[in-house]
Amino acid sequence: MKNNIVLIGFMGCGKTTFGKWISRHYPYKFVDTDDCIVRAQKRTINDIFKMNGEDYFRNLETETVKELLKQEDGKVISVGGGLPVKEENRALLRELGTVVYLNTSKRELVRRLRNDKNRPLLAGGDIEKKVDTLMEQRRLIYEETAHLILSTDEKNFTEMYEEIVSYGENL
Ligand code: S3P
Repeated sequence: MKNNIVLIGFMGCGKTTFGKWISRHYPYKFVDTDDCIVRAQKRTINDIFKMNGEDYFRNLETETVKELLKQEDGKVISVGGGLPVKEENRALLRELGTVVYLNTSKRELVRRLRNDKNRPLLAGGDIEKKVDTLMEQRRLIYEETAHLILSTDEKNFTEMYEEIVSYGENL
């Protein structure tokens, strides 16, 4: 396994915010798989979904993880919420580093995502139902992919980071 921190979890669980916080306080470089794709494709995620569909986007995600596997360690990687859904990606993520699932309550997710305009899978319809349905499909996948599960509702960033470090020390 490589020496990266790999953050997975539902849209809005705080992967990007926590990942950037880690990179400000500790010697990890922040990388976001969505940013990698947007930069390479020179278009937004909404446009990729609209023009080429979800399957195409999922393949771009796999390519991104394979690319990161070739790169040097020392990164904290925020992973798009749907990336672990593709089975092939789950093993790749666990090779990429310590996979940490940020588990956030549905109530908090809905609060954060209610007015979101950048996530195609949440567009239109009842946000609570959408979060419910996707979470039902994904909860087990996140739990099984992760080396470590952190509850973001109960812990602050310092405590969360310390748990990741102590997981690494006990390997
Ligand atoms: C998605 C999550 C998004 C982004 C895309 C699809 C998903 O990333 O990859 O909109 O399927 O859950 P974030 O989890 O960073 O919002």
